[in-house]
Amino acid sequence: MSDYDSIGRGYAGQRRPDPRIATRLAAAMGNVRTVLNVGAGAGSYEPSDRHVVALEPSRVMIAQRAPGAAPAVQGVAEALPFANRAFDAALAVLTLHHWADRVRGLAECARVARERVVLLTFDAQAGGFWLVRDYFPEFMELDRRQFPPIADYAKLFGGHARVEVETVPIPRDCVDGFLGAYWARPEAYLDPAVRAGISSFARSDTRAGVERLRADLASGEWNERHGELLTKGELDIGYRLVVATLAH
Ligand SMILES: C[S@@+](CC[C@H](N)C(=O)[O-])C[C@H]1O[C@@H](n2cnc3c(N)ncnc32)[C@H](O)[C@@H]1O
Repeated sequence: MSDYDSIGRGYAGQRRPDPRIATRLAAAMGNVRTVLNVGAGAGSYEPSDRHVVALEPSRVMIAQRAPGAAPAVQGVAEALPFANRAFDAALAVLTLHHWADRVRGLAECARVARERVVLLTFDAQAGGFWLVRDYFPEFMELDRRQFPPIADYAKLFGGHARVEVETVPIPRDCVDGFLGAYWARPEAYLDPAVRAGISSFARSDTRAGVERLRADLASGEWNERHGELLTKGELDIGYRLVVATLAH
């Protein structure tokens, strides 16, 4: 059984693709025609104008794919059931940190992609944002263990790829409810339904941090410390687009 068979219930309700992030991913894919979406979940960010196959380990996630979504194959990144260079591109959106063996999974992506691998991931060395710094430092610890340092990607792709990394600032009204989506809407993190769509909250007992945030919002302490953020339209909180152009 995959982790997301338990933590993924209700995922599609909280995690809808954000159109601004979708635009960035579409640009990163360039003019490729065939795409393998690895760790595809419920199908967010799957382009409708290219031929897509989805790869996903969790039956619960596959069941949340929309009718008419790309065909989904059950499997894991570490053992992709496809021939070498079967697709123009491999895409992996906010999934790499869940893989049991990231080195193997990335090597598999590079094996099945002819042209490029596109990842939306997170730079855990970038310092995070107020939520993790002030209330859930345990998430930062876990992120540092789970997300490869950005400088390691060239090596992870075996030295045969040109690797480009771009910052993905998160809009203040981001509609994809991942961990950093609500940086300008702090009350959202008090909502159990919002937290249920974010895997970091499923991994430890976060009640104390939630109660501290609730108290700081009520007392005005949060506003005192972070209120100036509310004037910003978007914020770099560590999300990164990694594009590896392969040289097979
Ligand atoms: C946060 S969700 C992201 C889903 C989707 N890419 C999106 O953007 O909504 C992470 C996904 O990675 C999947 N996953 C976990 N381990 C995996 C593995 N070893 N190989 C491929 N996918 C995996 C989970 O089942 C889950 O669907």
